[in-house]
Amino acid sequence: MHFSESKSFRCFFKLLNISITILVITFFSINFILTRGDVIQETYTSNTPNLTRLDGVLPNMTYDDADRLNVYWQQTDLNGLIEPGCINRTNGKVWCDFELQEKGKDFKIAIFGNSLTFNHHKMFLQECRHRSYNVTMYSECGCEPLAALPDEDHCKRHLLDFVDFLKSAKPDYAFMFTRFFATGSPFENNNTDLETDSTYKEMMNQIEQFTPYIKKKLYILDAFPRTNS
Ligand SMILES: *[C@@H]1O[C@H](CO)[C@@H](O)[C@H](O)[C@H]1NC(C)=O
Ligand SMILES: *[C@@H]1O[C@H](CO)[C@@H](O)[C@H](O)[C@H]1NC(C)=O
Ligand SMILES: *[C@@H]1O[C@H](CO)[C@@H](O)[C@H](O)[C@H]1NC(C)=O
Ligand SMILES: *[C@@H]1O[C@H](CO)[C@@H](O)[C@H](O)[C@H]1NC(C)=O
Ligand SMILES: *[C@@H]1O[C@H](CO)[C@@H](O)[C@H](O)[C@H]1NC(C)=O
Repeated sequence: MHFSESKSFRCFFKLLNISITILVITFFSINFILTRGDVIQETYTSNTPNLTRLDGVLPNMTYDDADRLNVYWQQTDLNGLIEPGCINRTNGKVWCDFELQEKGKDFKIAIFGNSLTFNHHKMFLQECRHRSYNVTMYSECGCEPLAALPDEDHCKRHLLDFVDFLKSAKPDYAFMFTRFFATGSPFENNNTDLETDSTYKEMMNQIEQFTPYIKKKLYILDAFPRTNS
């Protein structure tokens, strides 16, 4: 009795799985057509004549126009965030460097951190390339340079990679781009003594390992919105 009951339950769940799969695929396709349809439409209706701005923003824009443009940018801007020409020199590592050839440049710069590094590298290069002859980048998806959550072994390993990266790059200036998740962990066991907090100790340890390889300064760029605060 018990056996057959659990068997029919299993069968029921199997059926459910199939219908859920079909539903998911259907909804996904509909969503895709609905959202990408806007983009397709946009490319064919962008015949707005004599625009003074390339982004298509007009002084008389309505909220609906803003909404439509926002959707369009969300779907198409990502490629615009990528600066080509980052050279991979270290096998097995995702870091790479932009060699900026023009003369009269002073600094070697390293930018590193979680995926925010990659999201901001083009903007960073636009602002800072005129002062640097080499910008080395290490962007690690989902892991922070200063601390890792206890259950994220891969991020624990990347803590060492961040040190190795700075060791190999030896920059004049380093910029850390990150949104802080692991470092925002609350105190454990009601212990509010910062000096004995394990996250704090891990962060200090990372900083101490970074600084010998940075000739002038390490800048830590804080991101909003913050987590856990
Ligand atoms: C766009 O500008 C050109 C040149 O100034 C003008 O000849 C043309 O009529 C304009 N088109 C529209 C739709 O205003
Ligand atoms: C805004 O101006 C453009 C051209 O100047 C015109 O084509 C468009 O219809 C206007 N939109 C609104 C909402 O008035
Ligand atoms: C450099 O490495 C990244 C990440 O491993 C890879 O996606 C990219 O294609 C590589 N670029 C070149 C030019 O080999
Ligand atoms: C730029 O930095 C990378 C990584 O440290 C290094 O391999 C490369 O030789 C540097 N290039 C120049 C021109 O300094
Ligand atoms: C932390 O403190 C609160 C209130 O003082 C208490 O209820 C709780 O049990 C404490 N938790 C631990 C892990 O000691």
